[in-house]
Amino acid sequence: MVQTRIGCESLRSKVMSAEDAASLIEPDTTVGMSGFTGSGYPKTVPLALAARIEAEHAKGNPFSLRVWTGASTGPELDGALAKADGIEFRLPYNSDPIAREKINRGEMEYFDMHLSQVAPVAWQGFLGPLDTAVVEVSGIRPDGSLIPSSSVGNNKTWLDRAEKVILEVNRWQNAELDGMHDIYYGTALPPHRVPIPLVKADDRIGDTSFRCDPAKIVAIVETDAPDRNLPFSKPDDTANAIAGHLLQFFAHEVKKGRLPASLLPIQSGVGNIANAVLTGLVDGPFENMTAFTEVIQDGMLDLLDSGKLRMASATAFSLSPEAAAILNANMGRYRDKMILRPQEISNHPELIRRLGCIAMNGLIEADIYGNVNSTHIMGSRIQNGIGGSGDFARNAYVSIFMTPSTAKGGKISAIVPQASHVDHINQDVQVLVTEQGLADLRGLSPKQRARLIIDNCAHPDYRPALADYFERALKHSYGLQSPSLLNEALSWHQRYLETGSMRP
Ligand code: COA
Repeated sequence: MVQTRIGCESLRSKVMSAEDAASLIEPDTTVGMSGFTGSGYPKTVPLALAARIEAEHAKGNPFSLRVWTGASTGPELDGALAKADGIEFRLPYNSDPIAREKINRGEMEYFDMHLSQVAPVAWQGFLGPLDTAVVEVSGIRPDGSLIPSSSVGNNKTWLDRAEKVILEVNRWQNAELDGMHDIYYGTALPPHRVPIPLVKADDRIGDTSFRCDPAKIVAIVETDAPDRNLPFSKPDDTANAIAGHLLQFFAHEVKKGRLPASLLPIQSGVGNIANAVLTGLVDGPFENMTAFTEVIQDGMLDLLDSGKLRMASATAFSLSPEAAAILNANMGRYRDKMILRPQEISNHPELIRRLGCIAMNGLIEADIYGNVNSTHIMGSRIQNGIGGSGDFARNAYVSIFMTPSTAKGGKISAIVPQASHVDHINQDVQVLVTEQGLADLRGLSPKQRARLIIDNCAHPDYRPALADYFERALKHSYGLQSPSLLNEALSWHQRYLETGSMRP
């Protein structure tokens, strides 16, 4: 017989099927779900909900929801609900391909926001009421407190704010997750807000579980379903070159006395390049490192295993299936080296500034002045969202952005005359790295930055055209602080849309 993870006797009467739980969610309401990059999202209630929505649509009844989460989730949530035409509004982050297509076809409203801001803004009341929370937990203690799952995200806020709560108790999650989390309950709205008492990445300032009013819990569904994480690709020459430039930069900064020998808490963004940089640090000279970051990827586990990384603080795991299996098999060993926190803490601007994080994030394109587009392809098609990149970039000790110098087999230059959309203004971008090289932009004026970015970061196939644009802009621009030719600045993007290539 399977051992239940519901330790609280009085809550056991609330156990029901996913279908029955899904039937408690009304059309045209707002649902706050758990989930952060493929970890800790509810898996059976959203699937049952999608089936119910499809059935209602078949009868001609409208049924759609406003869906809030921590960040991206898995196919059983975003994919299934989007496929069923069940989401009319989504925040704060999406990377699901079906939902992405709907957003880009104009069939779904999407507000991508700084991930640190979601919980405070919800509390401030700016997002409207939250009707239902659907949250995956790894267990319920005898006192009714909830043991978090493989992500924390906004769960504390959803559990507090929602009128009713549906729990998925997932026994696939390792029981030894119990004790890994740090749920801080000291946040308050101004004018009652106080400093967060965290001064080191490994400080614990909260509880290991969520509190939840049992009267609000309307359903509990027991599940045994894996997180569905995506594999990382093996670092290629481009990723290795970027990692190499960065390691050299860190060594230089340590030599100059601008970084300690153990560096400062590292933050590493999502994606293959970020993961490759972490893997590169395994062979680097830096010892006793810490991470204060948003997600723990495969590379972080490698770093922990190597002993170079002492501990990692984040809000979620973002692991390949292989790494997730390794973590699950060895949870007890990793538990003391990892802390999962609410995303309003893992991504908190004040903490990032205080700890002096080294922020490393990916980008879609950067312009010659170092303005960065992390989100929109050709200025209008959303790829994922800003996620936590803005939380970290603006507040970091040093803010690094990295990318291959070209995309789509060389048809697109990642360095362009003008970014077609800007998420990170040039003041928030201090170091830019491609496989071609690294541009240290700290303390430089826009024109000085442009020369360095073109010389060090642009692909040789596009470098002459960028240099030519910049030289002509110096002659003909309306102003010479950030020279630009308005009728040409976005012509590379237009050329791509018309011909399939940015090449002149
Ligand atoms: N023009 C058009 N497409 C581009 C492009 C450009 N300049 N640059 C990248 N792309 C496309 C790639 O071709 C790829 O498309 P595909 O999936 O159809 O093959 C896709 O964007 C992802 O690019 P990839 O090279 O695989 O990069 P990545 O996995 O390192 O992700 C971002 C890069 C920018 C998409 C990713 O870092 C992101 O979403 N960032 C925003 C959120 C964030 O930074 N979160 C971390 C904060 S803690």
